Amino acid sequence: MAFGWIDEQAQARRRAGLVRILRPRPADSPLLDLASNDYLGLARHPEVTEGAARAARTWGGGATGSRLVTGTTELHAELEHELAAHCGFEAALVFSSGYAANLAAVTALAPHGSLVVSDAGNHASLIDGCRLARGTTQVVAHADPDAVRKALATHDGPAVAVCDTVFSVDGDAAPLAALAGACREYGAGLVVDDAHGLGVLGDGGRGAPHAAGLAGADDVVVTLTLSKSLGSQGGAVLGPARVIEHLVNAARTFIFDTGLAPAAVGAALAALTLLRREPERAARARAVAAELHARLTGLGLCAVRPDAAVVSVRAPSPEGAVRWAADCRTAGLSVGCFRPPSVPDGISRLRLTARADLSGDQIERAVRVIGETRP
Ligand SMILES: Cc1ncc(COP(=O)(O)O)c(C=O)c1O
Repeated sequence: MAFGWIDEQAQARRRAGLVRILRPRPADSPLLDLASNDYLGLARHPEVTEGAARAARTWGGGATGSRLVTGTTELHAELEHELAAHCGFEAALVFSSGYAANLAAVTALAPHGSLVVSDAGNHASLIDGCRLARGTTQVVAHADPDAVRKALATHDGPAVAVCDTVFSVDGDAAPLAALAGACREYGAGLVVDDAHGLGVLGDGGRGAPHAAGLAGADDVVVTLTLSKSLGSQGGAVLGPARVIEHLVNAARTFIFDTGLAPAAVGAALAALTLLRREPERAARARAVAAELHARLTGLGLCAVRPDAAVVSVRAPSPEGAVRWAADCRTAGLSVGCFRPPSVPDGISRLRLTARADLSGDQIERAVRVIGETRP
């Protein structure tokens, strides 16, 4: 029977307690949100929603075509200029998602005969970029510049190392300056995904590469999502102008994809303007994460010390993690739940995201619920 194998896979998934379900979110959810990636609390900020509405009224509901055909508005150009200026890079290119930006950066910068050195903890979109790239991928130990160095030493020809700046599962940061040093020893490029660093790390939320002294470097390329701290949707690649020009000509997820919707561009621009006006939001998100971590470990829970705004709390099993998250939800708290196969190390976790707009009372409540519902 066509697709019969799907039922076998579904059964195996059920047996392993790994079925994923979609849960619609009401607009006026009463849950306290520690699950979204709205780190700066901007997704519903009136200036951000007005930025989206104004852009849609002016430019329409969609971009109407590929950026190379009809999909580039002056709003796209303005956002690219502002993102590059904020993070300290020469140029930027906006994509329809962070996922598409990562596919673009890795595939376009890893031609046939090249080597891609990929951190074992990388996000799925970087992994998929490696799978699609014409170059050969070597996966190396997590956050290990010496492992990158060793991999690069085996290769003769173009090479690039790729990694998250803040790893999405445990919220730990990559040793960016040391990684850049390793790449430079071998004339390799460095592509870093700052999805969880933009708006949270660096002076005024300029991101992890800026904090590591790599802003504007001619051998560093940064990918971003607009869907986390900027409370919008979409992605971007930042880097030297010649790299950005190359992407316009070579990146298939740019060339063959409809441009980012004007509303998303307008929302991201408004959020960036807000971040520049209120740079203290970045430090507040980090402080909330540190407080959550301190209080949860104070209860005897095992949590990774956060380098940015993601706080990862260990759960005893996939089923235990699912039950824990469900019990939190029943008690009015929304938390993320990560388990295999999303986490290759097989460890299930609750994943909490700190938000700059959480009050002391909300932090208190979140910690109490997580403690009281622990399996
Ligand atoms: C590290 C990382 N990179 C890329 C993405 C993809 O970004 P987007 O949701 O904009 O496609 C995500 C998550 O969404 C992420 O966590």
